[in-house]
Amino acid sequence: MPINIAVFASGAGSNFINLFNKIASNNLNGSIVLLVSNNPNSGAVKFAKNNDICIKIINKFRYKDKTTINKEYKSSLKENKINLILLAGFMKKIPVDLIKIYRNKILNIHPSLLPDYGGKGFFGMNVHHAVFNANEKISGATVHYVNKDYDRGPILIQKKVEIQNCKGPNEIAKKVLEIEHEIFPKAVQIFLNKM
Ligand code: GAR
Repeated sequence: MPINIAVFASGAGSNFINLFNKIASNNLNGSIVLLVSNNPNSGAVKFAKNNDICIKIINKFRYKDKTTINKEYKSSLKENKINLILLAGFMKKIPVDLIKIYRNKILNIHPSLLPDYGGKGFFGMNVHHAVFNANEKISGATVHYVNKDYDRGPILIQKKVEIQNCKGPNEIAKKVLEIEHEIFPKAVQIFLNKM
């Protein structure tokens, strides 16, 4: 039986789109059946709509409090019989009880060489600004298991990229994103091969 995968994404969704295409073309033993997003106007949601992927929007405008939000996460994952969650640019914190239920079954992509430039405040372009301001010559991306310690779960795969010629954070982001698109599908493959 193929593994049912949920992707959580908030933004442009390039990782989500890349995962969807690679999982389909590489004949992996899994398929993305659900997109969870807090942002109904995101590129990720648009792609899911165009590709008939079930979409669940969960945010504070739609659901009144944290308890209801947590319930919605759980019920939509249960309804879709999800056994792997991929965080692909998801900018909300995952509730601790969900992390417990999906122990070792949630993977996150982070745009730096963790543990460097991880933790509170380090997400999206913030990471690349910090890396640029610190004059780093090398950056990269990391896929790790999600546990209760933010950005500190065991690392599954990590890859470096030279950024010494980058003239600003945007250029770094572009280079790192290429690496992300390489390693996230690989990480999923490693995960699925172990199941
Ligand atoms: C990616 O760079 C991802 O690593 C980052 O957000 C971007 C989403 O891009 N995630 C984090 O910073 C999580 N801490 P995308 O929407 O094009 O996939």
